[in-house]
Amino acid sequence: MNAKPVSHSQTTLTELMIPSYANFGGRVHGGILLSLMDKVAYACAAKHAGQYCVTVSVDGVNFRQPVEVGELVSLLASVNYVGRTSLVVGIKVIAENVKSGTVKHTNTSYFTMVAKDEHERPTEVPPLLLETVDDIRRFLEAIKRKELRASYSEHFDNAKTRMLLNENIGKLEKERCELADGLEL
Ligand SMILES: CC(C)(COP(=O)(O)OP(=O)(O)OC[C@H]1O[C@@H](n2cnc3c(N)ncnc32)[C@H](O)[C@@H]1OP(=O)(O)O)[C@@H](O)C(=O)NCCC(=O)NCCS
Repeated sequence: MNAKPVSHSQTTLTELMIPSYANFGGRVHGGILLSLMDKVAYACAAKHAGQYCVTVSVDGVNFRQPVEVGELVSLLASVNYVGRTSLVVGIKVIAENVKSGTVKHTNTSYFTMVAKDEHERPTEVPPLLLETVDDIRRFLEAIKRKELRASYSEHFDNAKTRMLLNENIGKLEKERCELADGLEL
């Protein structure tokens, strides 16, 4: 399978934030942005894979600044990493106020997508041709995130299975919760 350059599948989606996207506070719903991110991740992944792709996991969704109705939101997506059947699409989201010309970077997130064949089985994706220093940096950062996620899962799973309520109940004293009367552990 021939490697494809990152530039082959780089995708930008721009959308105007219309009033029906607003929450009760008058700003854009986080879910609207997530849906747009999923859409651009699909377009980018499917173009690289040449196959139908599904979303498996999402990393790094932290909305750092609110997005206002009337702003133009652009989602810049590129393949950061490929495994055998999976690929990681990095998405940078920026919101532009067209009147003032201000541009804010609201978040950068990473969608892991898996390519599927006509029988819905994971299928191999082309390798990635790294043509720039940024391509190399993003590929290496994706490997790092994968390692950190594996280590987190291992620790969290162990902690879960080993956690005994009686041993840990004291931790709740510092938290903003109360135990209902008569609750037995
Ligand atoms: C994604 C899916 C095909 C994986 O199935 P599976 O039996 O675990 O298949 P595999 O073990 O062969 O994994 C396939 C790839 O997914 C990756 N993967 C699986 N679970 C993952 C996770 N939670 N996070 C990141 N990558 C994951 C594997 O590492 C593997 O990557 P590689 O081939 O590049 O090494 C399956 O879980 C699925 O179909 N999920 C539903 C996806 C979907 O419908 N999304 C839309 C939500 S509405």
